[in-house]
Amino acid sequence: MKQLLLLGLASLLVACGGKEEPKVSNTTTTPPTASTPLDKAALSEQAKNAIKTYGGSLKAELQTAMQAGGPVNAISACQLKAPEIAKTVSEAEQLQISRVSLRNRNPVMGVPNEWQTQVLNDFEARKVKGEALESLVYSELVENGGKQEFRFMKAIPTEAMCLTCHGSEISPAVMTRLKELYPQDKATGFKEGDLRGAFAVVKNLP
Ligand code: HEC
Repeated sequence: MKQLLLLGLASLLVACGGKEEPKVSNTTTTPPTASTPLDKAALSEQAKNAIKTYGGSLKAELQTAMQAGGPVNAISACQLKAPEIAKTVSEAEQLQISRVSLRNRNPVMGVPNEWQTQVLNDFEARKVKGEALESLVYSELVENGGKQEFRFMKAIPTEAMCLTCHGSEISPAVMTRLKELYPQDKATGFKEGDLRGAFAVVKNLP
């Protein structure tokens, strides 16, 4: 009898110990989706870091190429390095990172899909309402084909240095090279402070 009681106590203790893990407990006061906001914050943080790495490397490559061989040569550097760095960062972080724009230069990689187009339009609207481009972000956890997909976007502002290749007074030499490489180029005529596009991150969750 005493032994039974001890056994009962032991299992009670085990049960309580198990409840210390917040994800295991599922009481009525805790909604089943309680862990979602936490996960989303962590995923957003990871996406932001990947964007920082990708954006930082791209800018560094661009500046080095501009200084070394001028803007015409920097175009080739951009064309080669942009997809390469995107691939490296995507593999390292186990996600897919890209740059998209409503007025794109790269006719394959730069074209936004449906949800990305919506977000870009929304970014334009938020900018008109007075939000700073630097702080425009979007994130969402969606169900896609029975799996969870995390989506994140961050606005890319047009800076003065971008106008050499994306502005409205592009030098003839740069224009000629751009036309050769990108016959369907839509990424000119931007002004400083315009929304140039956005970084897009997609992460498939198990
Ligand atoms: C030396 C010329 C040059 C400069 C300067 C330049 N870009 Fe680009 N940009 C390019 C080229 C070339 C591509 C196409 C790359 C590719 O093929 O993936 C491109 C593509 C992009 C894209 C991808 C979407 C699209 O339109 O296809 C974004 C976003 C972008 N540039 C933003 C910027 C920003 C922001 C700056 C300034 C910080 C900048 N660029 C400066 C040449 C340039």
